[in-house]
Amino acid sequence: MFYYPDELIEEIRLNSDLVEIVSEYLRLEKRGAGYFGLCPFHREKTPSFYVEPVKQLYYCFGCNNGGNVFHFIMNIENLDFPEALRFLAERAGINLPEPDDTKEQHKSRLRKEIMEVNREAARFYYSCLTGDIGRMAQRYLFERGLSRNIIKRFGLGYSPGEWDALTKHLLSKGYSEATLVEAGLCIKNKNGKLYDRFRGRVMFPIFDIRGNVVAFGGRVLDDKLPKYINSPETLVYSKGRELFGMHIAKKNIEKKILVVEGYMDVIALHQAGIPYAVASLGTALTNMQSRILKKYADEIIISYDTDSAGKKATERGLEVLGRLGCRVKVLQMPDGKDPDEYIRKNGPEKFKNLADRALSLLEYRIKQLKDEFPQDSIDGKMAFLNGAADILAEQDNIVEREIVMKSISRDYNISFDALLAETNRRISRKKRMEKSKEFATAKKELTGSIRPSSFDRKKGMRRRYEMMLISLLSRENHLFREASERYPLSCFSDGTIRETAGILYRRLSEGNDFLLEEFITKLNADTASEIIHLVKSSCNFENPEKAMDDIITKLEVIKLEEEKKDILMHLKNITDMDEKKQLELKLQSVIEKIRMSKQI
Ligand code: UTP
Ligand code: MN
Repeated sequence: MFYYPDELIEEIRLNSDLVEIVSEYLRLEKRGAGYFGLCPFHREKTPSFYVEPVKQLYYCFGCNNGGNVFHFIMNIENLDFPEALRFLAERAGINLPEPDDTKEQHKSRLRKEIMEVNREAARFYYSCLTGDIGRMAQRYLFERGLSRNIIKRFGLGYSPGEWDALTKHLLSKGYSEATLVEAGLCIKNKNGKLYDRFRGRVMFPIFDIRGNVVAFGGRVLDDKLPKYINSPETLVYSKGRELFGMHIAKKNIEKKILVVEGYMDVIALHQAGIPYAVASLGTALTNMQSRILKKYADEIIISYDTDSAGKKATERGLEVLGRLGCRVKVLQMPDGKDPDEYIRKNGPEKFKNLADRALSLLEYRIKQLKDEFPQDSIDGKMAFLNGAADILAEQDNIVEREIVMKSISRDYNISFDALLAETNRRISRKKRMEKSKEFATAKKELTGSIRPSSFDRKKGMRRRYEMMLISLLSRENHLFREASERYPLSCFSDGTIRETAGILYRRLSEGNDFLLEEFITKLNADTASEIIHLVKSSCNFENPEKAMDDIITKLEVIKLEEEKKDILMHLKNITDMDEKKQLELKLQSVIEKIRMSKQI
């Protein structure tokens, strides 16, 4: 399961600052000794995602997800442990030896091969477009206003209409059939024969940010359906990870990026002198795409269609980008046109003027509200006023808030004072709620040693206490000897929990120190979350010795009670008088032991 030595794993952890890394995904605010933000793992309006900078742990009080930097990356990037390790090693500039796992080696070789074959395919498609066979396709692109130059810059091409033009070409270059299929360029039919995925289409190579060809989109030359087909997900391509045009847009010095829907929009925009346009490839922005955008741009302008799918995608984009703390604007094209159509009709200058007047997030929200509620009735106006106050109260920038309030009161004929009063009322309510939440969190952290009573009623009590013991020992290594004598490894419940305890007990018995934050690297996300939950909410271990004693006593009692239950069960089925007597004696002593333990 783990290919790398513990020291290397720990080095990577120590070189991956959790606060810095989390900040790439969400906005964190310092509060007391730690940081709070909106949890990326569940939907919430007030922050309950907590990052502990000293221990380098995170924990969400809302959804109980928690762990160290490895768990965070595994969860948010949807990676397994070796992948998360590689991800963080790369980020930290630490050289990770190629895993000696043959499967991994095979994968990485295949990855390289796929990129190579993709580049060869792009070359082939380009030569088809510029050759005789691509005359129609070339004319199509010219008619859509593209210049020879831009066609070359984006490496556009044409896939011939025959069944196997590309297949033949690539096989003749020595690529294996398996590679062609893995790359998504070719498909195997029922008889095991390969044919081209893209036929008779204008080809759009999709480059990753480093300029590798990772996939293709292909468009028909007429109105046939489907209009576009795209490469499937492959070892080198995952739709939610790439942004079409990003390898060029990343170089622009204005530090802004315009996000549009389609291939043709990006290309038309670049040709019109807007080299910072990218497309999210027909989906709403993902977390990963948003992070890339944030890295390269200070301002992100979203310009999706104004139909309902486009509006939804805009909302999603605003949400993920907002969570990252990006400055976002929305550019709505008039008359339901897309940027490509608009530029062709009105020219680049008009488009640039329009882009300069893109709406701020606040303006956009207010405009949405205006479209929703008619202004010609009292009810509509009231609903609008309430909604506007809600939105305004979320806006932290006082200056922008005031400007927008003034324009609303002017445009919608609503008294400025009424709007101000409604907004302020909401702001104070929000502040009150934050205060009480902070208080609740603080109280949780301050609670005494342990609170057995709240768990007594629950099932799986033994598990809980065992987890508590594990988390206590991972923080208080010096208690190990005593603890392991009173509660040896063999006492732990079967399954994950004993495995978990096993890792800890082994390390500690070898005399190594082991920190909670390092130890949990070895645990799966659920177990790590559970341990951190216990550390954060059930026990602060202010008096570790007493905590240990309490926990183990509790566990001993639980064990005795299980014994008692067993004996009682047995007694029912026993007829032999002698045996019965013996069991009854044993029962008495167990009951006595329980009584004693409970007294302490
Ligand atoms: P649109 O339908 O808006 O097309 O899809 P478009 O970009 O304006 O294309 P043109 O101008 O007619 O050539 C927007 C994007 O959604 C994806 C493509 O990435 C497209 O650019 N899409 C659309 C597909 O992947 N498949 C489809 O069948 C349609
Ligand atoms: Mn279009």
